[in-house]
Amino acid sequence: MASQDVSEKDRVVIFDTTLRDGEQSPGATMTHEEKLKVAELLDEMGVDIIEAGFPIASDGDFLAVHEIAKRTKRAVVCGLARAGQQDVDRAGEAIRPAQRGRIHTFISTSPVHMKWKLQLEPEQVYEMVISSVTRARNYTDDVEWSCEDGTRTEHDFLCRCVEAAIKAGATTINIPDTVGYTVPDEYFALFDMVRRRVPNSDKVRFSVHCHDDLGMSVANSLAGVRAGARQIECTINGIGERAGNTALEEVVMAMKVRNDVHPFWTGVEATHLTRASKLVAAVTSFPVQHNKAIVGRNAFAHESGIHQDGMLKHTQTYEIMTPESVGLKKTTLVMGKHSGRHAFVHKLVELGYQLAENQLEDAFVRFKALADCKKHVYDEDIEALVDEEIATAHHRIKVLSLTVIAGTMGPQSATLTLDMDGHHQTTQATGNGPVDATFNAIKKIVPHEARLELYQVHAVTEGTDAQAEVSVRLSENEKTVTAKGADPDTLVASAKAYLGALNKLIVKRARAKPDVMTAP
Ligand code: KIV
Ligand code: ZN
Repeated sequence: MASQDVSEKDRVVIFDTTLRDGEQSPGATMTHEEKLKVAELLDEMGVDIIEAGFPIASDGDFLAVHEIAKRTKRAVVCGLARAGQQDVDRAGEAIRPAQRGRIHTFISTSPVHMKWKLQLEPEQVYEMVISSVTRARNYTDDVEWSCEDGTRTEHDFLCRCVEAAIKAGATTINIPDTVGYTVPDEYFALFDMVRRRVPNSDKVRFSVHCHDDLGMSVANSLAGVRAGARQIECTINGIGERAGNTALEEVVMAMKVRNDVHPFWTGVEATHLTRASKLVAAVTSFPVQHNKAIVGRNAFAHESGIHQDGMLKHTQTYEIMTPESVGLKKTTLVMGKHSGRHAFVHKLVELGYQLAENQLEDAFVRFKALADCKKHVYDEDIEALVDEEIATAHHRIKVLSLTVIAGTMGPQSATLTLDMDGHHQTTQATGNGPVDATFNAIKKIVPHEARLELYQVHAVTEGTDAQAEVSVRLSENEKTVTAKGADPDTLVASAKAYLGALNKLIVKRARAKPDVMTAP
């Protein structure tokens, strides 16, 4: 494997935007507490800049950026702002408590965006580049400027805007591939051209920000770095608008494993990657595809006979990096009803989780209950259980009990008790089948207009006593949320998933109208 040659000029700064671009993607809402947790882990793993939110977007976003700015020990904390004065001021306020704070201001520069989205003439956009960067500099000397849709911007205009941003005081220049349209050679040439043409470009750091619409975001990001960019904007698990952003774990490991062809390095401690992936997957309820690079369940699995034979002879036959290098521990403990707390904690570490003390206690109680009713408790069972524990920690509505009458002698009915902010409410409802009856009972206690867009069940493991993992997607007023629930009882799992989604909708509604704190 390649050795790493460390020199400051080859250091690539990692700018994580999981909490901003990632959270912006449909269904990936995180609560305030979840954002703090993710930020804490990003800081601990050595991310250089945490883009914590878009402060003008809502009071919730503002508070998250503000609180993360207060708590973060090492990383720069960044708030996003459009080019307007109010946006910049709000971002400036939000990052005020940070030891090191950045304002990231942006405006579209491509013909199609300027004409249709902004309905502004290029000269007006040009003036706004100068005014926004100048205003941002009143709050911090760390100002990043982005030309949204940079890869579809005319080169002369792009260079003029970059030059103006630098002159106004921007210290980082980001050229995003907003719509995931570029290809590596073209992106390389773009950075090369801008850096050669724009005066004082050697005084700033250039940044890549790529979306994955054509599946090339990682390759494009690395091409930009080869052309001189030294900041990569990325997200854990590659979450983000549409097809997502560059996956942090992929660019970090690409530069490590193929340091011979990409001789760059980052400050990210790669052994935290698995943990970060699991945390983000749990809080967003966005599953990681099994064959996802670096952090997918199958990324280090070898099933075919030929591969297994090769691995037994020498691991490098089929492994270009070790699972341990990304924080995946070899699973050694077999868990069952006799396993104690110590073994449970050990297993969580093996699986890449780190829980707060109270969550650990709850998870252990649930593990014992599961082990009592299930013959074999597999790693997947524990993962489903812990993911749910993480995702529901701050939920305001929870299932207390559910009894369902199902079978051929309809109508099917559900008797449900919910805990809503500490108050218990019970109701009964009938439906066209037990799931429908359960969801109708939820609707009676928590009236809402949300539309069920997805209801999906899968067995976490083999066997008829397997836990069911249910995914539910709800949408309301163009807001989409996704949640999962796991339980050996499919109907309880269904109720948990539906309520998980409703809890997320509460968070989303509160953002649109900050004083709404009642249940939907
Ligand atoms: O994709 C994009 O252009 C963005 C900008 C705000 C940087 O996310
Ligand atoms: Zn983006």
